[in-house]
Amino acid sequence: MCGIVAYIGDQKVNDLLLTGLKRLEYRGYDSAGLAVVADDKLHVKKKEGKVDELVEAIETDHQPESTLGIAHTRWATHGNPSDVNAHPHTNAAGDFALVHNGIIENYDVLRKNLEEKGYEFKSETDTEALVHLIDDVRKETDLSLPEAVRQALTQVVGTYGIAVVSANDPDLLIAARKGSPLLLGVGEGENFVASDAAPLVEHTRKVVYLNDGEIATVRRDGFDVKTIGDEELEKEIHELEWDLGQIEKGGYEHFMLKEIMEQPNALEECMRGRLLLEDNTVHLGGLTDVMDELREAERIILVACGTSWHSALVGEYLIEYFTRIPVEVEYASEFRYRHPILHEDDMVIAISQSGETADTLAAVREAQDRGATALGVVNVVGSSIARETDAGVYLHAGPEIGVASTKAFTGQVMVLTLLAMKLSEERGTLSKEKRAECLQAIADLPDKVRRELERDEEIAEMSKVYRYADNFLYLGRGYNFPVALEGALKLKEISYVHAEGYPAAEMKHGPIALVTRFMPVIFIAMKDSTYDKVKSNIEEVIARDGSVIAITDADNHELDDMCEYVMRVPETMEFLLPLLTVVPLQLLSYHMAVLRGCDVDQPRNLAKSVTVE
Ligand code: G6P
Repeated sequence: MCGIVAYIGDQKVNDLLLTGLKRLEYRGYDSAGLAVVADDKLHVKKKEGKVDELVEAIETDHQPESTLGIAHTRWATHGNPSDVNAHPHTNAAGDFALVHNGIIENYDVLRKNLEEKGYEFKSETDTEALVHLIDDVRKETDLSLPEAVRQALTQVVGTYGIAVVSANDPDLLIAARKGSPLLLGVGEGENFVASDAAPLVEHTRKVVYLNDGEIATVRRDGFDVKTIGDEELEKEIHELEWDLGQIEKGGYEHFMLKEIMEQPNALEECMRGRLLLEDNTVHLGGLTDVMDELREAERIILVACGTSWHSALVGEYLIEYFTRIPVEVEYASEFRYRHPILHEDDMVIAISQSGETADTLAAVREAQDRGATALGVVNVVGSSIARETDAGVYLHAGPEIGVASTKAFTGQVMVLTLLAMKLSEERGTLSKEKRAECLQAIADLPDKVRRELERDEEIAEMSKVYRYADNFLYLGRGYNFPVALEGALKLKEISYVHAEGYPAAEMKHGPIALVTRFMPVIFIAMKDSTYDKVKSNIEEVIARDGSVIAITDADNHELDDMCEYVMRVPETMEFLLPLLTVVPLQLLSYHMAVLRGCDVDQPRNLAKSVTVE
């Protein structure tokens, strides 16, 4: 969703901000803009569309150079994507400019009051209400701009990550956060503000994470942070783990393909120091302090959104099978509003790639408020969910830039697999011999994924046959039911092809009515405990003239004559199948999207990190 990058220092700011915006493109957006301070004036440029259009406008209009500025990519919430609604927004006198992520929920009340006082609104955004509110507070109280911003924020209901610059103070950048992530990048004689680390890594590794309700006054030679309630704070400086290579395409045409291909290494990183074959054990350092509680948990509730919710479903199967602890999986967005029943011995585990998804973060807070312990399975180090949960496990998958999640999904499933192994050891629900067999199978996975990825060409060829199909059905059972959901989600997200995922047996309760030879049906038909049933479902589709693609074991040729295409994956133990069966589905959706001319990494309307509810 919306992205912020802001700079104060001695570098030329236009290029720096535009490069920063490019690094934020992956978050999803529909317009972009920037404001720089030069010759005691604000120079604002805003454009609907891609950052490239802003770049062009800046070149054509000879935007003045500066060493102070704020920039923004907007994902429309209030008001359609347009030049006027794009950020930054300025006050009527044009002496300060503001960029905003989040939603000002009481903007209509604020707007009405401000209009009564004579303020004229140019845009349809909620953000403009905040700009005029700051202006109003400043006029009424004669406070400095940072103080007026702070006071105005006490009147705001909703979420914000903001950056503000003033035409009257060339050594001032203000940043504040509530609910929308924001961090400071700390340099030598220069400082940055950004909504995530992507625009910062090429400049500095040192960052300060702002917490909710904090405001920073940033200057070239330092920064002060206080609470919105005016309490001075000492902030810790953290070291970023990302490096520049990780957020660049590295020779691949798209981030998504790069990230699919990175999966074997990402899985190895995830297991490193955790899967200890020689000791026949799993070590999850981040959970040491809560392991007693976890072992005794009455119930585990997994909360997540999107792809992370699919990995939670795999987690449910894994944890219940291996540990016999009851597991529930909840959409984070539903969990919070249905007054969930929670007990002290419930463990809530939030699963999130970004660690910033608003609903998942809210679910963590809800769980904690109701007395449960909340854990995080998160990829982005230092993200809000990582910081607010009581303990957790990082994926160590590296930055995921493509909007469609791929290596984070397999990373999450791997963490949940390791957790199931660890808990089964703690609870004595798995024999030592069986555990050794399982751990060895886990260790063998990255090479199996490598082998699968070698079949990329084959899948690319197959995609050509299906590129014009407008509807797909994905079916799987057991551990592969969540994979069917994930396969369908991948296709619809990036190819805009309608796709449904279903448990294979449920097909007869609805989707079978849709079956024609024009709707490819993808069966995940591995030779596991559900194979015979799934094979019958395949027969049922074929009997209705359906067109079937199957994913099955490398040496299973039973389906060859029945199906139009067979995608083969290496064998593994049943509980690990999702980590292998999802890979051809990721590749299929990738190639379909490329063939259909879609914007693979930044699909329309979608955001990488959904920071509003
Ligand atoms: C968005 C992204 C998805 C992601 C979901 C949850 O919809 O486009 O790829 O699965 O958010 O995000 P999270 O960062 O919490 O895993």
